[in-house]
Amino acid sequence: MSADGCFIVLEGPEGAGKSVQATRLAEWLRTLGHNVIQTREPGGTPTGDAIRGILLQSDHLHLASETEALLMSAARAQHVRQVIAPAIEVGAIVVCDRYVDSTYAYQGGGLGLPMDRLREIQAFATGGVLPDLRILLDLPVEVGLARRHGDVDQINRIDRAPIEFHERVRTAFLGLAEADPASWIVIDTTVSIDEVTAAIRAAVSDRCGVREASL
Ligand code: TYD
Repeated sequence: MSADGCFIVLEGPEGAGKSVQATRLAEWLRTLGHNVIQTREPGGTPTGDAIRGILLQSDHLHLASETEALLMSAARAQHVRQVIAPAIEVGAIVVCDRYVDSTYAYQGGGLGLPMDRLREIQAFATGGVLPDLRILLDLPVEVGLARRHGDVDQINRIDRAPIEFHERVRTAFLGLAEADPASWIVIDTTVSIDEVTAAIRAAVSDRCGVREASL
């Protein structure tokens, strides 16, 4: 496929270094001459950022699992219509930190909500806008949480869930990738940051047909 309009999502458990890698990927694609939109979930719009505040703050709201899934999906509905779809429409490459598969992994795998209901909600929220490439940045849960807890300012409500929750999230991500290898690439992130960056570039070149854009 052509890189223009390619929708790339980085997914994975906590501490895999997604945000660093998303920034590196976006910068690299820009140096190749592509128009790139870098964004993240939950968030990416003023509405999404307001919803993110509800989702990630301390536990006092006692969010029901269903509420959590719907708020993640509501933020996504706004994100698709205000940012992602318009960017694809003008031929930009979209680099997004988390998307529908985080809902399947966290609210489905982690919290145990039924996948078929989550899929219905995602169909409605996204209007069928799905990634061209899903990159799973994988690592053992204890390694990811140790990295995360090294930076107390970064720890949110979901990070503090029990380790068994995070194990179910990782298992769900690996299952999603295994079930749809044409859409996913799995990268081990226990290696160096530069090695992960190189593996992501190789995957994007291969799957999105990245090329030096002509001037
Ligand atoms: P964030 O601080 O952005 O973490 P990360 O750097 O790991 O992406 O927090 C986002 C949290 O929201 C993260 O714990 C994953 C969670 N999440 C869900 O549970 N469901 C979702 O659909 C999305 C998009 C995120």
